Amino acid sequence: MSRKAANIISAQIILKPDCVLGLATGSTPVGLYRQLAEWYEKGDLDFSQVTTVNLDEYKGLTREDSQSYYYFMNENLFHKVNIDKDKTFLPDGTEPDSEKACRQYNDVLASVGRVDIQLLGLGHNGHIGFNEPDTFFQTETHCVTLTDQTIKANRRFFESEEDVPRQAYTMGIKTIMSARRILVVVSGEDKAEIVKKAFFGPITPQVPASVLQLHSHVTLVADEAALSRL
Ligand code: F6R
Repeated sequence: MSRKAANIISAQIILKPDCVLGLATGSTPVGLYRQLAEWYEKGDLDFSQVTTVNLDEYKGLTREDSQSYYYFMNENLFHKVNIDKDKTFLPDGTEPDSEKACRQYNDVLASVGRVDIQLLGLGHNGHIGFNEPDTFFQTETHCVTLTDQTIKANRRFFESEEDVPRQAYTMGIKTIMSARRILVVVSGEDKAEIVKKAFFGPITPQVPASVLQLHSHVTLVADEAALSRL
């Protein structure tokens, strides 16, 4: 799964060296980033002109916090390749004023131009980015309160459930849908049911990822376990 998805991202970089990549965190893309870093090491990939915008960031975590998505991206990709750090963007989790943080990130997104390929993982409840069930499809960057299910799912990365931030800044569905292409990566039996609902069920805000059925260029890369209910 990781290698196939990495091939798609790397093809994008080769075809358009100054492309804009929309990136995701979480456990699913870790192998993909490792593969990209390996290909960079081998001399097959050049990130020097690439711009990246991440989907989301926890509100209230500093950049040095090992649980922040900023830290995650540095550890898993940015520190391992020749990307220009000035061309990598995430929402500013340290900004306590939600409106300001979201406005700033929308400005960043407007200034970098249209995302060429947006990478997405899939939450167990169908969330993409941190767009939780019952989200509006017309949203741009906004502040969300995480659902109990997402807090529990993300608890594995923190010392205790209390340490999981309750809010996050995320690109909205409208922002995500404006990307030229979308690449969804999913792995594991525990995602099989939601893969079926998202891609073959009704399009509904209760399953935010179902909106992807309305996008004209989506690629789903998944392992057999995640596809086992289709
Ligand atoms: C991460 C993100 C989330 C994850 C989703 C799946 O930036 O926006 O939507 O993609 O929660 O997470 P994993 O891959 O850990 O199962």
